[in-house]
Amino acid sequence: MERTFLMVKPDGVQRGLIGEIVSRFERKGLQLSAAKFMVLSEELAEKHYEEHKGKVFYEPLLTFITSGPVFAMVWQGDNAIALSRALIGKTDAIDASPGTIRSDFAVHTNFNLIHGSDSAANAEKEISIYFSPSELIDYEHTI
Ligand code: CMP
Repeated sequence: MERTFLMVKPDGVQRGLIGEIVSRFERKGLQLSAAKFMVLSEELAEKHYEEHKGKVFYEPLLTFITSGPVFAMVWQGDNAIALSRALIGKTDAIDASPGTIRSDFAVHTNFNLIHGSDSAANAEKEISIYFSPSELIDYEHTI
């Protein structure tokens, strides 16, 4: 069992795509462990994206990601990180395979609707930035 951090970005929220996106992970068979509707502080956004500091897209990314509410989530299941990234698609919508979230709904790298952890180390880091351990719910499916 593996956990990953996923976040519907401000563009996904404003376009009314939270339900569509959550539905894709549910239908895949991954399990929701935690969720939070929130506006990111500058400090939290900097912590999340610190590996991109200095890149040309860093400042616009911080401005965008703090511009409105996001829907932050933790999902779990076998290979949750790789499976989530497969559902999300490549960063640039032009390269994203048809049927992925970014191919189906995004047109621009800067407004690519959703973030997903790209490694186990980043998943652990990102989950700890957004959620306390007591907020992560581990449960059995009984129906
Ligand atoms: P995300 O998965 O949230 O990780 C970093 C974000 O920076 C990325 O999605 C994009 O929204 C944004 N970004 C903008 N330009 C680039 C780029 N050239 N390469 C990677 N990420 C970029």
